[in-house]
Amino acid sequence: MDGVRKTFDEWAQNGRAELMEVEHGKNVSKFLDSISFDEKFTFLDVGCGNGWVVRKIAKEDHCKKAIGIDKSKKMIVQAKKKSNHKNEEFFHTDIESWKYRGKFDFVFSMESLYYSDSIKIALEKIFRLLKPGGKFFCGTDFYTDNKATARWADVMKIQMHLHSKKEWKKFFQDVGFEVKTKQIKDMKSRKKWKKEFGTLFIIGTKPK
Ligand SMILES: C[S@@+](CC[C@H](N)C(=O)[O-])C[C@H]1O[C@@H](n2cnc3c(N)ncnc32)[C@H](O)[C@@H]1O
Repeated sequence: MDGVRKTFDEWAQNGRAELMEVEHGKNVSKFLDSISFDEKFTFLDVGCGNGWVVRKIAKEDHCKKAIGIDKSKKMIVQAKKKSNHKNEEFFHTDIESWKYRGKFDFVFSMESLYYSDSIKIALEKIFRLLKPGGKFFCGTDFYTDNKATARWADVMKIQMHLHSKKEWKKFFQDVGFEVKTKQIKDMKSRKKWKKEFGTLFIIGTKPK
């Protein structure tokens, strides 16, 4: 079993999935609250962990379907247990090898994409899974500009690709996305990096 899957299987069982929900929740909610979900839409969360974002989005009035995928089987077991809305669905798979015929209006991913073997291959797949005009919201706290988080790779001891904001933008442009970025800061946090750098969201739009 690969190290990423093994680590997150452990996190699914030792309470760290819920800790991520708390740690990421504020900035992710602030970001998602700025998106207008005012027309019928479908939503995919890549690396959904215990599924908290899927549950949040599934409650939106116009949400037809919200799907979460994760390469950790134990995360998906947790997500299915917590699922409470009929338009939610969870699958145990990595993004790279997922066979899915449908296309989404929105794809979301928080602190997940940099664990992929190849960010480029994962992004190409996400691009194909979007409808023309669809958007990919990719959140990361781990990026070169945010120096305080760079040491996470030594602590985690698993594959984590560290890139700058500029490099992330280039990855998105290279697969065909139109790109914007947004940094969401938490001025009330006790952590200095959350106040100074915050979560970087790379927003890719698939041209129509
Ligand atoms: C740091 S956790 C974040 C979980 C969740 N997004 C959150 O914010 O609480 C990263 C998750 O991404 C999953 N993951 C990593 N690489 C993946 C891939 N290539 N395909 C699908 N899931 C992946 C891991 O198993 C893990 O559950």
